Amino acid sequence: MAASNGLPYGRQQIDEADIAAVVEVLRSDWLTTGPKITEFEQAIADFVGCQHAVAVSSGTAALHAAVAAAGIGPGDEVILPPLTFAATANAVLYQGGTPVFADVDPTTLLLDPASVEDKITSRSKAIIAVDYAGQPCDYNRLQELAEGRQLQLLADASHSLGASDQGHACGRLAELTTFSFHPVKPVTCGEGGVVTCDSVDHAKRLRRFRNHGISQDHHQRQQRGSHGYDMVELGYNYRMSDLQAALGLSQLNKLPGWIARRQNLADCYAQGLAEVSGIEPLALRSEVSHGFHLYVVRVVNGQRDRLFEWLQQQQIGANVHYPPVHLHSYYRQTLGTQAGLCPVAEAAAQEVLSLPLFPSLTATDIQRVVDAIKKYFREG
Ligand SMILES: Cc1ncc(COP(=O)(O)O)c(C=O)c1O
Repeated sequence: MAASNGLPYGRQQIDEADIAAVVEVLRSDWLTTGPKITEFEQAIADFVGCQHAVAVSSGTAALHAAVAAAGIGPGDEVILPPLTFAATANAVLYQGGTPVFADVDPTTLLLDPASVEDKITSRSKAIIAVDYAGQPCDYNRLQELAEGRQLQLLADASHSLGASDQGHACGRLAELTTFSFHPVKPVTCGEGGVVTCDSVDHAKRLRRFRNHGISQDHHQRQQRGSHGYDMVELGYNYRMSDLQAALGLSQLNKLPGWIARRQNLADCYAQGLAEVSGIEPLALRSEVSHGFHLYVVRVVNGQRDRLFEWLQQQQIGANVHYPPVHLHSYYRQTLGTQAGLCPVAEAAAQEVLSLPLFPSLTATDIQRVVDAIKKYFREG
């Protein structure tokens, strides 16, 4: 994240209104499971246009809760891309399921529906699409595939809050969608996550799962005037605090402006780097509004790591998203996955580079990054 001096690849933006919102909660009666959670959940549901939003303690907890709500258990296979943060696949393992890696499209690096189709077996139960860098996947095709084969479609939209496809917001493009509120994400709660869905049963299961698997929360017990409660399944303490929710609510007001700003800055990069041979942009799907959580380019001809080092020397904090999940030692050792499983993602992982992008970045900052890249290719 933030380098001590120089340009980080991503960073949060906190203003006085955010600080006041958190302080207000500190002076209130409710630090957790209070009114700000309900308000935040309603604001997220309204923002994406879905029926239910369930706030949790992180994007990882959101994925775990969504996989549990989808009923994934031992023996079930879940198809997902390897070009993602490990948490997407780990959530399947937490429930005893098996992640099955499908390849990505070479131009967008989004989950490739044709590869998903190839990986479907009689044990397949769900697909988790990942909106890599903030661009929505092809949910129309994925939904068609899922419906035809009786699979559930989940979306890891950690990168794409505020993005949309044909006017439909991420958060309502799959049966269950997860978001992260980590500081580099489109909006932050410090840490936090949320699951959005339209099904009342899913929402009930998610609320229970985040609270130890207990069927009634303390509000319901208070209303009934009873102290009894029952734990009906194994759950976790994945609750979000009201401090986090208040920060998220205050941040959410600014999201539309920040998305527009990110799109603007992405245009500046695209124009600035258009003539640089050695740098290739990722493709934009038609009719999407890209959230540009990340600005990812491909650095071809084996130059990525040397360019990364050069940018570091210039105090420019680029990053790599991601080493393919199936090639992590843990996955090789436990699932026996190896190189060659997803050749498109593996080749891309050698070339992708995320350049600095966050709402307070300026056109001058972008010019500095573009100039540094040009200088690298000029002087090699
Ligand atoms: C694609 C993706 N999935 C899941 C996560 C996990 O989110 P969190 O860090 O909030 O647990 C992240 C965050 O890094 C992510 O980028």
